[in-house]
Amino acid sequence: MDSIRIVGGHRLNGTIPISGAKNAALPLMIASLLTNETLTLENVPDLADVGLLKRILANHGVDYMVSGKRPGDLPNSGQTLGLTAAEIVDTTAPYDLVSRMRASFWVIGPLLARMGEARVSLPGGCAIGTRPVDFFLMGLRDLGAEIELDRGYVVARAPGGLKGGRVRFPNVSVGATHTVMMAATLASGETVIENAAREPEVADLAACLGKMGARIEGAGTSTIRIEGVPRLHGAVHPVLPDRIETGTYAMAVAATGGDVILQGAHPELLQSALDVLATAGASVADVEGGIRIVRNGAGVEPVTVTTAPFPGFPTDLQAQLMALATRADGTSSITETIFENRFMHVQELARLGADIRLNGQTATVTGVKSLKGAHVMATDLRASVSLVIAGLTAEGETTVNRVYHLDRGFERLEEKLSACGAEIERVRG
Ligand code: EPU
Repeated sequence: MDSIRIVGGHRLNGTIPISGAKNAALPLMIASLLTNETLTLENVPDLADVGLLKRILANHGVDYMVSGKRPGDLPNSGQTLGLTAAEIVDTTAPYDLVSRMRASFWVIGPLLARMGEARVSLPGGCAIGTRPVDFFLMGLRDLGAEIELDRGYVVARAPGGLKGGRVRFPNVSVGATHTVMMAATLASGETVIENAAREPEVADLAACLGKMGARIEGAGTSTIRIEGVPRLHGAVHPVLPDRIETGTYAMAVAATGGDVILQGAHPELLQSALDVLATAGASVADVEGGIRIVRNGAGVEPVTVTTAPFPGFPTDLQAQLMALATRADGTSSITETIFENRFMHVQELARLGADIRLNGQTATVTGVKSLKGAHVMATDLRASVSLVIAGLTAEGETTVNRVYHLDRGFERLEEKLSACGAEIERVRG
């Protein structure tokens, strides 16, 4: 298994291009199941999760085509992916594929809407909590689906087609919002989703569905209205920039010190995280085509942060913020409210010398003078990258094992960081 070797202590200076968002690309790819025409997605990041979803979609009958570079494309621009579900050949999403990535469960919405049936394995994914699917089932039942559980599979049927309805989620769920919104595009009549997720990736999916002929209002707010249409058609849509990748590199610069332009980043996608970085002592500025993040001279100030659904501080940046807080002059408090088991990085950060106490869902992080390099390993994507940030600031050598977690969500991580002066390399295992 590959690992990442880092020699810490280098400041980051330069430009980091921000890739298309993993968490937007995945639902957009799944939306291709809704039409027999081609959905062309631009700026798709080259990630392990994207590759796995291609395989899952291919199993349902989706053909995909990766276009070559065009004149004027930047060397860093993402791939253009054409997805065509001319015919759905299989409405079953099997355990061996779905268990490897939770988002693949979301195919249940489009398959049910287009084919009137779907049989989808209960999902897997990062080990960050129990992550049930009750909201999905509730929402699809509200659209008239009959649902039963059969030996680890969710079997959903809507023989006469889905019918618009009122869906009120008990809590905010990104995946359930994506799934029910996709399903409702082809239902008869109007659907209203209340307490919908407001994450930018939901609005991006709605924008793409709109180009495909769907009638959706309110995506990006907590009430989404969808007027079903008989069919959707092909479209061309660029994936929005990755706000979590942006925030991750911003935290890295705040931790190591330096001056970096995050090229292609949109500040409004992560304002709450940028505000926290400013409190921590980094200077954050909107510049043409991106965000500039600088920390020169000043120390890192402690912060008090609680994760929340968008527009709050994202759970997907909690681990990275904790890595930064280990370097603060004082004690920070970080509370996780979205997932009940998202602190696996704590014990690994402790191997590097961090001083973190956990009390329920709150971590109290007392900054230390220096971290010291060590062998570390993490069991989820964002936890892994927090160890990279910690390694970049630590004295000596850090080895982050199980790099496949990083490959799920960070495109060319070593290349992007080493171009800014980090001493980081992949060691093939
Ligand atoms: N929940 C339920 N029942 C459900 C669905 C969700 O109780 O039926 C709970 C979850 O257990 C969790 C909370 O609701 O406690 C929020 O989960 P949500 O459904 O919003 O998460 P998700 O859709 O599975 C997406 C991202 C995650 C990100 C969360 C929260 C993708 C592919 N995944 O997951 O990203 O943490 O929203 O913002 O978009 C990552 O990229 O590393 C990652 C884990």
